[in-house]
Amino acid sequence: MVIAVSEPNVGQREYKNLAHCIDSGWVSAKGSFVTEFEKRVAESMGSTAAGFATCSGTTALHLSLHCVGVKSGDLVICPGFSFIATANAIAHAGATPWFFDIDSSNWCLDVEKLEAALEQELVKDTSGVWVRKDCGRPLSAIMPVYTLGNTPDLQKILNLARKYDLKIVADAACAVGSTHLGEKLARYADLSCLSFNGNKLVTTGCGGMIVGGRSDNEEKQPIELARHVGETARVLPGYDHDRVGYNYRMSNIEAAVGCAQLDRLDEFLERKQQIRDFYKKVLEDLDGMNPFPDINENDSCNWLSGVVIENSSEMEIEDIKSLFRGASVQLMPFWKPLHLQPPFVEAPCQDLSVTEQLWTQIFALPCSTGITDEQLKIVADLLRSFSGTRSK
Ligand SMILES: Cc1ncc(COP(=O)(O)O)c(C=O)c1O
Repeated sequence: MVIAVSEPNVGQREYKNLAHCIDSGWVSAKGSFVTEFEKRVAESMGSTAAGFATCSGTTALHLSLHCVGVKSGDLVICPGFSFIATANAIAHAGATPWFFDIDSSNWCLDVEKLEAALEQELVKDTSGVWVRKDCGRPLSAIMPVYTLGNTPDLQKILNLARKYDLKIVADAACAVGSTHLGEKLARYADLSCLSFNGNKLVTTGCGGMIVGGRSDNEEKQPIELARHVGETARVLPGYDHDRVGYNYRMSNIEAAVGCAQLDRLDEFLERKQQIRDFYKKVLEDLDGMNPFPDINENDSCNWLSGVVIENSSEMEIEDIKSLFRGASVQLMPFWKPLHLQPPFVEAPCQDLSVTEQLWTQIFALPCSTGITDEQLKIVADLLRSFSGTRSK
């Protein structure tokens, strides 16, 4: 049996809820589990309005950009270090990602660098819109990514958004259960988007959610617009549709799994923290090998734990991979930077030195919430054994 990096932890509760869906016949996009899931996730993020559950995190991001008004030809800021879905969603909205570097202490947007670059690169055009000086393209939004469940300096991002009239759509795909300086996350963005893919802390199989935030109380609530447009923009009771819509809804079956998972969120968060602490302790004794970063104690949901192998040669990387492979233990490379991906090589980017230096050195380690202590010890022994060969 392989010890996997991140497996779903599903069991009897999920089974019982699924049986309820089948027995009742509520298997499609309406149903009590969808309503319950939307309410509970939004509450956990600190949003006053219920969320809108979608069929994936990617569709949540795309729909959110659309609903905050991002248009074809706009630029949207995001980190160069993320899963491809971040940039894909921006492209789906007809916009172009503008890549910025990350901070090595949390692997999220480096807000200091961002602030300096915006000061330098932006100017107001004659109609009062902030545009890039060199190409005249408007900048309409910023998409911070809460990498691993960590957050960047969100107050500074709010300040920048106010200064440059930017909407904030947060890619909170990995951040269910995270907080920022003890505060729930929703209020730091116009809309925040979660993923409930199978490798996430809470899963619905495939799925996502948009939750409202700082503009919840404005007249035109983007979360309500997202619900409308994401459900084909239908005006009931007939088949009237008042704009081009999307069919991005989550099914009751998926939400049934999600509700059962939420019952166990505290248990999952506790286990993730134990795993993080375990690897931290193991890696403390190994030269040139560091744990994935986390932010202020108890803020991160610690979605993934892993190892950063400093100054690693290609040969060393091959050695550790084959060591783990031989022991049937998964070791996963992490995200390849977005500006190096063929669809986005032409996208504008600022200095990405931290991103470029980091990405080849990082590997996710087995950290499923269902991992046993014995399995963790097997992984720790492999790390020690690799470190031993390195120091020779
Ligand atoms: C940072 C980030 N953004 C977006 C997504 C997209 O989510 P999904 O796979 O549910 O479409 C993911 C998930 O895999 C992710 O890790």
